[in-house]
Amino acid sequence: MEIKEITEGETRLLIPSKRKITKKDVVFYNPHMELNRDLSVSITRVLKPGRFCDLLSGTGARGLRVCAEGRVKHVLLNDANPNAVELIKKNAEINNLDVEITNREAGSLLAEERFDFIDVDPFGPPVAFVDSAVRALENNGVLAVTATDTSALCGTYPRACRRKYDSLSLRTDYYNEVGLRTLLGYVIRVGLGYNVSFRPLFSHCTRHYFRAYFRGERSRRACNESLKHLVYLQHCFSCLNRGYSSLDGLLERCECGHEFANAGPLWSGVFADKEFCSGVMKELGFSEKGLELVDLVRGEQDITNPYYNIHRVFHKRGMPTRPTSELIDSLLGIGFRAVRTHFSGLGLRTDAPVKEIYDIL
Ligand SMILES: C[S@@+](CC[C@H](N)C(=O)[O-])C[C@H]1O[C@@H](n2cnc3c(N)ncnc32)[C@H](O)[C@@H]1O
Repeated sequence: MEIKEITEGETRLLIPSKRKITKKDVVFYNPHMELNRDLSVSITRVLKPGRFCDLLSGTGARGLRVCAEGRVKHVLLNDANPNAVELIKKNAEINNLDVEITNREAGSLLAEERFDFIDVDPFGPPVAFVDSAVRALENNGVLAVTATDTSALCGTYPRACRRKYDSLSLRTDYYNEVGLRTLLGYVIRVGLGYNVSFRPLFSHCTRHYFRAYFRGERSRRACNESLKHLVYLQHCFSCLNRGYSSLDGLLERCECGHEFANAGPLWSGVFADKEFCSGVMKELGFSEKGLELVDLVRGEQDITNPYYNIHRVFHKRGMPTRPTSELIDSLLGIGFRAVRTHFSGLGLRTDAPVKEIYDIL
């Protein structure tokens, strides 16, 4: 394997020099995930976990950065690919890091060990690893998952979403929010089976992937509470009205008379904890993009209604699009809440009903 050295954050990394960024690479390394790993570093600085497991390590980029730049007591890096493990060992050595490295199938490792923080960063969907990760997580531990199968989660391949996430997906103008909420709903539902209530600490959609960090508390009461936010989405493709509903409250038609399309089950609660975001921002001074992202995510947690793509809203009225900031100011001016969203520069998150939005155009 031909390798070259790079530096990510403050950590030196040997990576394969010939890469296509596909799962066929000898060892997988994706430079576009640097922001994702920056966030892991700052999040571990806030949470200070004891035993951290980088379950699917690749080159070891995440686990080694967390060890070198974050705040953790013990880091275990694992990968089933022997070439990856060879590289992880070299990378640990050149950074003088004292870590545990294993070459195991993820499920068998999780069946034998327990961790305070488990990071699941697979190719595609995380579903094959979530169940065993839930069982290997200490009470009040943190589970982090990445999903790169955005086409399944966002409604392009609805049958794939049914198969993997046991959820109906829908291709809406806020498709990436539906995708993130479907992923959150899935992990939370798996937790419920073990009386583990997963509360999203921070989650986001960036480029081609979703990422979510959950705190898992063993508590039936907390599980029952979270059931309230495992709901269905009703969307009207005619007037763009949208809202959440329990299964027994689903409506056939929108107020405009058009039939509702449904998605779910998905998570309708907050997808990040505002206080946690503030803590993470204090530890993210080294990443301008990271700060911007966490700030946007923090700012949109008071409104859980899915965001509007303002281009679509103007298009429905046959009008040219005006800046998002103008609409936000108009809605604030008539007493509604309105903010930007990290999901899209054309996104408007508001508690105003769709009729009110049309009125201010
Ligand atoms: C997307 S890559 C991980 C990237 C890495 N976390 C990073 O930040 O650079 C997924 C890794 O999971 C490993 N893998 C896939 N299935 C596995 C399994 N069942 N058990 C252990 N490792 C597995 C692959 O060899 C690959 O290195």
